Amino acid sequence: MTIFAVKFNTDKQLMNHPIENCIGNTPLIKLKNIDQGKSTLYAKLELMNPSGSMKDRVALNILKNGLKSGKIKVGDTIIESSSGNMGIALSHLCAHYGLNSVIVTDPNSNPLNRAIMQNYGAKVVEVKEKCAQHGWHGARIDKVKSLMSDNPNMYWTNQYENPLNPNAHISTMNEILEGIEGELDYMFVSASSCGTLMGCLKAIKSSGSKTQLVVIDAEGSILFSDQPGNKVIPGHGSGNRSKLLGISTPDVKLLAKDEDCIDGCYRLLKEQGIMAGGSSGGSYYAATKFIAEQNHPVTCAMIICDRGERYLDTIYNSDWVKDKT
Ligand SMILES: Cc1ncc(COP(=O)(O)O)c(C=O)c1O
Repeated sequence: MTIFAVKFNTDKQLMNHPIENCIGNTPLIKLKNIDQGKSTLYAKLELMNPSGSMKDRVALNILKNGLKSGKIKVGDTIIESSSGNMGIALSHLCAHYGLNSVIVTDPNSNPLNRAIMQNYGAKVVEVKEKCAQHGWHGARIDKVKSLMSDNPNMYWTNQYENPLNPNAHISTMNEILEGIEGELDYMFVSASSCGTLMGCLKAIKSSGSKTQLVVIDAEGSILFSDQPGNKVIPGHGSGNRSKLLGISTPDVKLLAKDEDCIDGCYRLLKEQGIMAGGSSGGSYYAATKFIAEQNHPVTCAMIICDRGERYLDTIYNSDWVKDKT
């Protein structure tokens, strides 16, 4: 594994800076033995952000912007619907900025994620029943709205509609374009709120690069397909079409089944020594398959969205895997 671009931890001055300065500028590495050494697949290690995922960039962008504009003041309460990384990233930065956090989850959320949020100081509220029309996602959004109507001083970060979500990922894509050697042919991105996808798309378009954007959606998600279904791997995919999806769409759309994500996770661990979450496994599975199908060498990049330790009870537990797949 060759490390290509690590900026922050070589700069001694940053030792005196707050934790927020450690968000972004994550390492970009070249993965080993891709396409028998003919093609190149870079991996952006977003799992190395302080709270463990690429959502640190989004939480930072939204909170910093709100604090700067005065929409958010120290002591205010931030609320969001999330069962995973966004809730963790927000509760982490709320602790840092002196804000309170309320994270609305549902019964499917991982107890470890909740414990992490609670340790950062968040109040975790669980909805008990699905919304008839929009499932658990709808129930969580309804709960956020009802809590806000009781408390007008709450600020909803609203990752599913907030343009500061995709804007936070312009830097992710620019760091990749600046870090690679030569031209990038394909960029692989997984999607849920579509913040990463739309931010990367915007950065590619404004850089003038010919990079094609490949989205990896979960099988059962309705972001890019009309066939809703059950999926167990959290993080990527959605039962609701994100309002952030614009008119410009990805160049290539691929689907990853739960089994593909699990397979990709185990291969990432064995072949690259990286323990990551299910969406990263899905991206590795889809990217390596796609590369093998090309009839010429290609240069590609993917994102390692979050840390695998959060999935020790699920993806990395063979009993759970047997039961769920
Ligand atoms: C692990 C993981 N992968 C992928 C995604 C999708 O990212 P986005 O919401 O930017 O579409 C998420 C979103 O929460 C996630 O937690």
